[in-house]
Amino acid sequence: MGHARKGLVLGILLTTAIGSGIVALILVIVETRDVYLPPETKYGMVFDAGSSHTALFVYRWPAGKENDTGIVSQALACSVKGPGISYYREEPTQAGESLRDCMREALGLIPDHLQRGTPTFLGATAGMRLLRLQNSSQADRLFEEISKTLRQFPVDFRGAQLLTGNEEGAFGWITINYLLESLVKYSFAGKWMPPTAAELVGSLDLGGASTQITFRPQSPSGDPSTQEDFRLYGGNYTVYTHSYLCYGRDQALKMLQAHLVQASNSSRVDHPCYPSGFQETLLLEGLYDSPCARPPKAYNPQSEILLRGTGDPEACFSAVRTIFNFSSCGGRKDCGFNGVFQPAVSGHFYAFSAFYYTFDFLNLTKGQSLSVTNATVWEFCKRNWDEMELSYPDQKKWLHNYCPTAVYILTLLMDGYKFTSESWSTISFCKQAADTDIGWSLGYMLNLTNMIPSEEPAGSRAQNRDVWIAAVFFVVLAVSLTTGALAVQYFGLPA
Ligand SMILES: *[C@@H]1O[C@H](CO)[C@@H](O)[C@H](O)[C@H]1NC(C)=O
Ligand SMILES: *[C@@H]1O[C@H](CO)[C@@H](O)[C@H](O)[C@H]1NC(C)=O
Ligand SMILES: *[C@@H]1O[C@H](CO)[C@@H](O)[C@H](O)[C@H]1NC(C)=O
Ligand SMILES: *[C@@H]1O[C@H](CO)[C@@H](O)[C@H](O)[C@H]1NC(C)=O
Repeated sequence: MGHARKGLVLGILLTTAIGSGIVALILVIVETRDVYLPPETKYGMVFDAGSSHTALFVYRWPAGKENDTGIVSQALACSVKGPGISYYREEPTQAGESLRDCMREALGLIPDHLQRGTPTFLGATAGMRLLRLQNSSQADRLFEEISKTLRQFPVDFRGAQLLTGNEEGAFGWITINYLLESLVKYSFAGKWMPPTAAELVGSLDLGGASTQITFRPQSPSGDPSTQEDFRLYGGNYTVYTHSYLCYGRDQALKMLQAHLVQASNSSRVDHPCYPSGFQETLLLEGLYDSPCARPPKAYNPQSEILLRGTGDPEACFSAVRTIFNFSSCGGRKDCGFNGVFQPAVSGHFYAFSAFYYTFDFLNLTKGQSLSVTNATVWEFCKRNWDEMELSYPDQKKWLHNYCPTAVYILTLLMDGYKFTSESWSTISFCKQAADTDIGWSLGYMLNLTNMIPSEEPAGSRAQNRDVWIAAVFFVVLAVSLTTGALAVQYFGLPA
């Protein structure tokens, strides 16, 4: 082959390669230019009115992408000062007032022209479920007063509502799977793919007055009241969900106290889960102020009880077990506790809210095994109060409750939900995913604003094009490199 011909072939090949490279580059630049034009942002807000406190979450997302998955993120989490709204049962106007500061903070973040279009919700959970059981007219008054206050703000207020336990569980499950983008996957070939069972995660939520377990079981059957069906992004989902009222952290600790008080039948009561050296007095009136702790037939509400910590983990574990009814399952495998149907846990789980806060304090959120977790909790429960107070001076108010709460969590997960030392490792203890707090509130907003379409999103073309452009770019790059390499191999380096 002559030098001239060799040069000509080489020239054609290089021109083709460089030409394709330039075309691909132009396509990419044209595409990225779109990214630099900032899309308009939209906002939505949810007040999470829990039993012990209320938080306001402000979410934002790029306008026009409502139907995409994982597009919403948290712009603000404002903690409302004071107790949960049900505490204001005697003075309902105060409940509304308590929300003003966070509302102002949120409006400071949302541009004026977008405020009126910002959907705003308040959802209340187990604290209000309990109040409604006790006095439904007080619960209704609270919702009225809160709505009255929130309607005064320049937002699209869509109402204050009580969530059912099933809704609370289901929306938490939607939130975490939405944030992890596990409800729908976008394949390289430009097709939406339904998730495989392994990609969906279960959710474990521990509030103050209730706890929820929600997951996709291997065989959906059994009690229909524990079943929720969704159609999301064109996929059908049947999940198991149950909310145990009274089995939130605060009410569980109250049931534990009531058990110890009733078992001792004296005004001085040993509490094996409190650190030795710790003492606390309580009035029977306060102990029996919720429907969760059942009072004896006759008692004097003004009686004072002295609770004294003994820091005895073994006795603590047995005392905590008494607030569960395990025998009502009659040895059935598909049963949680208190006779509630529950299929065997399967898949990966995210445990958030008080599950996370408790284990975070104990440094147990790094995937520790069950035996390490168990040993850490036992050691912690043996520490005495003087030493603990010195070690954690900023935690004084809640410090004595970490041991009983941790023992409660272990009992709930192992004996209640029937996790084993193997399946323990499938639980991730976390507060956030994709910089957004995990809880029911995001799923609630997505649902009420129809932001999760039941069918496969149509508005996916932009993403589709991104993937397509990237594919072309890489194919062209690969062809160019191969051509170049072949040319060099056959013709040698150009002189
Ligand atoms: C979202 O999906 C709904 C129903 O599939 C459709 O009517 C709507 O136009 C979509 N919105 C966007 C922004 O793509
Ligand atoms: C419920 O609360 C209202 C207002 O505080 C009170 O008047 C009423 O007696 C209560 N009802 C019950 C059944 O406790
Ligand atoms: C958790 O770890 C931190 C930092 O290592 C330590 O200061 C703290 O005492 C630990 N907490 C507990 C409860 O052991
Ligand atoms: C937890 O630790 C205690 C004390 O070492 C032990 O008796 C118990 O069997 C352990 N439980 C589990 C589930 O490992």
